[in-house]
Amino acid sequence: MLAQNETCTECHDTQRGPHVFEHEAMREGCTSCHHPHGSVNDKLLTQRNSTLCLKCHFQQQSGGLILIGGQDHTSLLSRGTCWSAGCHEAVHGSQVNSSLRY
Ligand code: HEC
Ligand code: HEC
Ligand code: HEC
Repeated sequence: MLAQNETCTECHDTQRGPHVFEHEAMREGCTSCHHPHGSVNDKLLTQRNSTLCLKCHFQQQSGGLILIGGQDHTSLLSRGTCWSAGCHEAVHGSQVNSSLRY
């Protein structure tokens, strides 16, 4: 684990893992998604919507469909953020599902 993440997980041990299905985003550090010194967004997030995820997961248009990670997300994006719409809630890593669910 990154040295910086170890500092954070001294206090935030639920985010430490290990998880059966790790989220590779964690390798880039907690600060790829959080501003630890403060943010206008809930949970100190750097972005409050799907932009947070789409900086690494590219969105493609194909035949009128919106694909993310090769999966059709056309009707899903209006349901909420990637982590609050009931799809990828286990954003720090999952014990049960490779698509980062609880
Ligand atoms: C890929 C982006 C991402 C990375 C990397 C990330 N987080 Fe998060 N984190 C989130 C999101 C999104 C939420 C909001 C989850 C929610 O509201 O349900 C969150 C919420 C949290 C919370 C609030 C409690 C909770 O689970 O809702 C803590 C504490 C936290 N993260 C700590 C960390 C630490 C420590 C690291 C690094 C070891 C880290 N995060 C790395 C995206 C990330
Ligand atoms: C000395 C202990 C400590 C360290 C180290 C620490 N935090 Fe925290 N953090 C806290 C406490 C206490 C809170 C407020 C209580 C809570 O929401 O869990 C908090 C809150 C948070 C929240 C918001 C949680 C929410 O529900 O809104 C996030 C995100 C977070 N910290 C991420 C980080 C990251 C990223 C790092 C490393 C750069 C870090 N923390 C380092 C103790 C710590
Ligand atoms: C710092 C870059 C980064 C960020 C930010 C990021 N991810 Fe990831 N994520 C990755 C990488 C790398 C992988 C592993 C390769 C892949 O599957 O694309 C991954 C894998 C995943 C997977 C597993 C795909 C599969 O089925 O194997 C899901 C689901 C996922 N991310 C959701 C999210 C969500 C939701 C967010 C926003 C909260 C997010 N990611 C933000 C880098 C990132």
